[in-house]
Amino acid sequence: MAIDAHDGAGPTILVGEATEDWAGDARFHEYTAAADPVGSGAISRVPIEQFPAHLHHGPGSRVVPLDLSGPLGVDYPATSPALLAAFVVLDPGDTCATHPDATSELYVVLEGTGSSTFVRTSPDRSPATGTIPWGPGDVVTLPAGCTTEHTADPAGRALLYRVTDAPLLAYLGVTPGTPQFAPTRYAAATSRARLAEVERHPDAADRNRVSILLGNVAHPRTLTATHTLWAMLGVLPVDRVQRPHRHQSVALDLITSCAPGCYTLVGSRLDERGDIVDPFRVDWESAGAFVTPPGLWHSHHNESGSPAYLVPIQDAGLHTYLRSLDIRFTASGG
Ligand SMILES: [Fe+2]
Repeated sequence: MAIDAHDGAGPTILVGEATEDWAGDARFHEYTAAADPVGSGAISRVPIEQFPAHLHHGPGSRVVPLDLSGPLGVDYPATSPALLAAFVVLDPGDTCATHPDATSELYVVLEGTGSSTFVRTSPDRSPATGTIPWGPGDVVTLPAGCTTEHTADPAGRALLYRVTDAPLLAYLGVTPGTPQFAPTRYAAATSRARLAEVERHPDAADRNRVSILLGNVAHPRTLTATHTLWAMLGVLPVDRVQRPHRHQSVALDLITSCAPGCYTLVGSRLDERGDIVDPFRVDWESAGAFVTPPGLWHSHHNESGSPAYLVPIQDAGLHTYLRSLDIRFTASGG
């Protein structure tokens, strides 16, 4: 047993143990030099990044992580500080197993039909196992603790876009515990019908967004798909401009369908007319994805002659809980 030999004058010496005053890791930063680590470059900004559709073209079952761990300065795969997106390619009849250290998984089915069979390690709120069938346009959410086998039907290949909050858990140094919602499927036919209702509404032409947000009975306060993930199914009608808005959540934008001529403008400032100053232009591509960083103004434009469809997925469930979403629209943004 250690004996405290402290005599009241010098440092504490623990006989039989190495001397340790626990101060070796402590650092002291002058306030103005450390108050804004992003501004000073101590921690990197979230980049605007595009992920082209050719990443998932061609045969060969595989998971293609949209990995920005290098620019983000982390040693685990990440597309944004809290989220990881990936394309999951399944050849006909093939199976891919997933078991992420995540509290939320969200899948958007881009091509093909198949099913996801999950086994839950913490079956306290819903069946311990189940099979969720899916087809194009369906969205599936899975909670913490799911080991899942995703299988494409033998008739054709399948392509899924997958987002998890695994980087958030990696940053916190934790593994998932209690599931916060039950596995949930958002059927494409229902989503399309709800979106069509919004589109037909007499006010649709004046609204900044023609979209529906995915919610879950388990999340009546954040009104989001999961407690961390937010997902929107939107249409950008022909010749429409969605005026600039911004939010502190990061958007991992998936374009599900578009013709050439659709794009997003991104920038840090607005001029007196409410347009983005010196914007960076991101051209849309069907089944391509891009990252919209937090806090930047962005507007969507459709000059293609055809309606375009998008599914932004964000960490806005987490931000809404933290009361830090800070979503803002231009005066004419609606
Ligand atoms: Fe946005």
